[in-house]
Amino acid sequence: MFDYLKHLPNDPILGLMAAHRTDTNPRKIDLGVGVYKDEQGNTPVMRAVKTAEARLLQNQTSKTYVSPAGSAAFNEQIAGLVLGDKLRHELGDRRITFQTPGGCGGLRLAAEFIQKVKPGSKILVSDPTWANHIPLLGEAGLQIEKYPYYDYNNHGIRFDDMMARISQAGPGDLVLLHGCCHNPCGADLSQDQWQAVATLAQTNGFTPFIDLAYQGLGDGLADDSFGVRLLAETLPELVVVSSCSKNFGLYRERTGSLTVIAGHGKAAQAAASQIATTARGMYSMPPDHGASVVAEILADDELNEDWQLELTEVRERINSLRSALVAELNKQGIDRDFSFIEQEKGMFSFLGLNVDQVRTLIDSYSIYLVDSSRINIAGINNGNIAYLAQSIAATLKA
Ligand code: LMR
Repeated sequence: MFDYLKHLPNDPILGLMAAHRTDTNPRKIDLGVGVYKDEQGNTPVMRAVKTAEARLLQNQTSKTYVSPAGSAAFNEQIAGLVLGDKLRHELGDRRITFQTPGGCGGLRLAAEFIQKVKPGSKILVSDPTWANHIPLLGEAGLQIEKYPYYDYNNHGIRFDDMMARISQAGPGDLVLLHGCCHNPCGADLSQDQWQAVATLAQTNGFTPFIDLAYQGLGDGLADDSFGVRLLAETLPELVVVSSCSKNFGLYRERTGSLTVIAGHGKAAQAAASQIATTARGMYSMPPDHGASVVAEILADDELNEDWQLELTEVRERINSLRSALVAELNKQGIDRDFSFIEQEKGMFSFLGLNVDQVRTLIDSYSIYLVDSSRINIAGINNGNIAYLAQSIAATLKA
């Protein structure tokens, strides 16, 4: 069965992690996969997570099965975090939430569910989008098409082109939107632009599908879910997937959620039954640990406050690194304006290099970044920023 299998290349993002690990250059820098790193280059377990884990160890009395929807406590808490408590209440039984194995599991579960109830549905994704959106959604059977998004020359959003393209979507079509901290480009919709998308969805009848993987890493927990909340308030139907990988630092614990808002309660409950059957057929039920940790944190005022404090430190560190990188690049006398890096949000920005220049940074300087020249800002620190800027300058001048 396996004699003639073709060996596939490494994943374009995860492969960089492995290559960086085996590189012996002491100056190596990992700007590849989107994980937060502190000044020492570590990805720490958050304080509130440690405390919640200790409590779980002490208090958990059973490891029995939960359900394909996961923990009801987590689902309510996470819906409150994403939508805000007021809106969560107002939506009532029009909203259902499932705990999922990470954001990836949520994206795939949503795609499989939609494929089951409306096979071959079209989903428009931003150009560019996160590379893993394509297999997660496409291999479920959804038909992926693109809408223009990032303007590589002017480092902004091609909003008019985007609107012209998504205005061709109608009822039964989905439009994938990044809730905040766009991956890979870091350029987010403004509040007015979200409003225009909401109006267009209302007029044309397509269903927005929001991937909210970085809530809290852009402008703050509430600001980063502005778009989600606006669309949830305005539209009859919405799909939202969220991840706890980055804002709770729970990467390997695979903790995420899928929320579906339907036009009325009966439709939402029918969707829940379909999603439960879909989850059962894929993985039966999601892993518990990360979701129990999140539910513990969000239910406890003191832990919640400490978590938000640490998340603020993370966000502020990323934002200060953005400014520091622009300043350091400016010192190099490169004939380019990098100020856009300071305006963009979240972990990622494009450096604006071509593939050959990216290969040079990897092969000659042991600086690991994605082929598109996407960098993880959080991989920068005071110890490596000068070397990084010098290496970029040398590569650009070569
Ligand atoms: C990234 O884009 O680097 C992160 O979302 C991690 C991943 O799984 O790719």
